[in-house]
Amino acid sequence: MSHASTYKPSTGIEKWLDKRLPIIRMSADFMDFPTPKNLNYWWTFGGILAVCLVIQIITGVVLAMHYTPHVDMAFNSVEHIMRDVNYGWLLRYIHSNGASMFFLAVYIHMFRGLYYGSYKEPREVVWMLGVVIFLLMMATAFMGYVLPWGQMSYWGATVITNLFSAIPLVGDDIRTLLWGGFSVDNPTLNRFFSLHYLLPFAIFGVVALHIWAFHTSGNNNPSGVEIKDVKKDAVPFHPYYTVKDGFAIVVFLILFAAFVFFNPNGLGHADNYIEANPLSTPAHIVPEWYFLPFYAMLRAITFDIGPIPAKLGGVITMFSSILVLFVLPWLDTSKVRSMRYRPVARMWFVLFVVAAVALGYLGGKPAEGTYVMLAQIATAYYFAFFLIILPLLGILETPKPLPRSIAESVLPKASKPETSAAPGAPAAAE
Ligand code: HEM
Repeated sequence: MSHASTYKPSTGIEKWLDKRLPIIRMSADFMDFPTPKNLNYWWTFGGILAVCLVIQIITGVVLAMHYTPHVDMAFNSVEHIMRDVNYGWLLRYIHSNGASMFFLAVYIHMFRGLYYGSYKEPREVVWMLGVVIFLLMMATAFMGYVLPWGQMSYWGATVITNLFSAIPLVGDDIRTLLWGGFSVDNPTLNRFFSLHYLLPFAIFGVVALHIWAFHTSGNNNPSGVEIKDVKKDAVPFHPYYTVKDGFAIVVFLILFAAFVFFNPNGLGHADNYIEANPLSTPAHIVPEWYFLPFYAMLRAITFDIGPIPAKLGGVITMFSSILVLFVLPWLDTSKVRSMRYRPVARMWFVLFVVAAVALGYLGGKPAEGTYVMLAQIATAYYFAFFLIILPLLGILETPKPLPRSIAESVLPKASKPETSAAPGAPAAAE
């Protein structure tokens, strides 16, 4: 939603700069941005994510000043950071717990988008850029976990890089390229360190595009109907949402601090305090919690699918679970965005959240017996939700009447709702 600029350069220098680089105008327009007046706290997670990214970059850059990416020294250099570097323990705990907080926030942000249909026209590009960010975040976190060179670092890297060998014809070559040799070793650690440093800046760039995109389409909101009257339906971003986002960020940082100061290793695995040993495989190799749902899907495919061997099937399933998100805007056929007005879709959505959480739980369990069977059911439901349920519901479901405007949705007693199901449709004549 582009809006007319109200910025008026007042001083001589402002006027001079405005003709050459209108950066003050841009910031002023950003602060004035007409934002739906009904955004709830689920909308504060975009700002929270931006804070997480900045925290990760700052702590990461300082950690890199004391870390040594060499197989003989990496583990000890991390211990050196913890014991000898001033506040090194704090930097490291903020960075490692920061990764978890980042994923917690991104999952909430994504489920919010799913529930309120924020991926639908005209926000398809906002959503797809989000999926790109998510992929980059996963690659960055995976490589970061290898750097302390503990047992889980080493064996996690071995399991995941070995997956690529399942790809027909080129799989072995890709794996050799990732390793920079014939096993996870010093060249692997070096290239992972280099990429782990680089990718957050790529994420930063894609986030800028993400923000540009939703400043073009305007924010979605809990009612899913578009702004019609800027005066009645919207408020300027500042001070209304700078204050609301600021409050949410502080609450989020309190939770973050609770982990850092009271349970800094609670989300980690004890085996990563044992130095990597290629000759001793841990009994259970488990990734960090935020990868567990995908790990469960990978291991759920225990059978060949026609000519596709089980291992390749697992790899395809795992990658498809994210790739399917790219086409989601075209799979969901409903014209109504917000699930507030889609009672049937809402039930299936709740089940989807249950399946996702169950996959997270099952990913941390041994791949045997009932655990595998449950993971297979949850995986099947995950794909059915996107490929069957959402396409069909758009046709079969009768949505509830939509409010005529955002203002009406927050002032329900002021007027009666219309019966039209199309978001943004003009109000029916009474
Ligand atoms: C570093 C990661 C990310 C950052 C910093 C970020 C930032 C933001 C911000 C500031 C907003 C506007 C405020 C809000 O709606 O919460 C937003 C909106 C949005 N984001 Fe993200 N985002 C990130 C990742 C993602 C991911 C992974 C997805 C989905 C796969 C996504 C999908 C969306 C969508 C669809 C909107 C529009 C929301 C609406 O107006 O309803 N974002 N993002």
